[in-house]
Amino acid sequence: MKKINLPKELVSFFDTNLKELEENYPGINKIVLLRFLDDLGVDQYLGATEEIHTKLLKGIPLEYITKKKFFYDFEFSLNEDVLIPRFETEILVHEAINLIKEKSINSVLDLGVGSGAIFINILKYLKENSLKMNHLHASDISQKALDVCEKNLTKLTWNKALGQTELIKSDLYKNINNKYDLILSNPPYIKENADRAGVHRQTDAYEPHIALYLADREYDAWFDDFFKNTFNNLNENGYFIYEGHEDHLESQAKQLDSFGFKSIELIKDLTGRYRFIKAMKNKEV
Ligand SMILES: C[S@@+](CC[C@H](N)C(=O)[O-])C[C@H]1O[C@@H](n2cnc3c(N)ncnc32)[C@H](O)[C@@H]1O
Repeated sequence: MKKINLPKELVSFFDTNLKELEENYPGINKIVLLRFLDDLGVDQYLGATEEIHTKLLKGIPLEYITKKKFFYDFEFSLNEDVLIPRFETEILVHEAINLIKEKSINSVLDLGVGSGAIFINILKYLKENSLKMNHLHASDISQKALDVCEKNLTKLTWNKALGQTELIKSDLYKNINNKYDLILSNPPYIKENADRAGVHRQTDAYEPHIALYLADREYDAWFDDFFKNTFNNLNENGYFIYEGHEDHLESQAKQLDSFGFKSIELIKDLTGRYRFIKAMKNKEV
């Protein structure tokens, strides 16, 4: 972080409105403000001080004000059309990179790519290790999300050199006509009603609902469709890793088993909660 001082306008705003700010931004303090200012730019803050204070009082996520977020190993451009990448998803990226290191992986799909948080970090790893693949595909149901991902992708001027890099607009697998060695996903996994109470109101108010929620009555059928088609779109010995809701992962492990997945493994996040599943198309030999 560059050495910057908090402008007196921001300090006085922070001191006066601390209680309201804390309700919307859990853990906010002057260090967080410094980081925010570093991302935003002091000049931009001083040029639009009142406007930015209004946004902060409304509780708009800091990342939607600065329009950026550093995730894993890359600074992403963001807007309200995509989920703000979450720290815990770095575990999924880490697991995927371990598989790429250890197994014979020549094609990857990231389904529900959003800003590109997972996908672009995989591309970066491949580039830094001089690896190429046959297919590097990412999909999303939302064209607006794909536009944000495309913007991030264009920062990687070398991405085409890694193999076939392609963004595909698709509802689940409807427009996907390939098979892959590795399928990754952080899909929407919150039940719109049953799980809503556990969602922070800032997330509910500002992040895209298509990235977060599934209707309660469609939840199991949606995952049936997702899992069945993931199985069919995996190559022999292919791997699937996805992020899910801690309350539903154990029953989803059974769902995966019923569709033929093997070596099903639940993975914890850093707080010790099960948040990810890794599974294979065939039994590991
Ligand atoms: C939880 S966000 C994940 C975004 C990004 N991969 C990340 O980890 O930050 C889920 C993404 O799935 C997309 N999505 C929702 N329903 C989908 C569907 N039926 N088919 C494909 N993508 C879908 C959303 O638009 C959103 O970008």
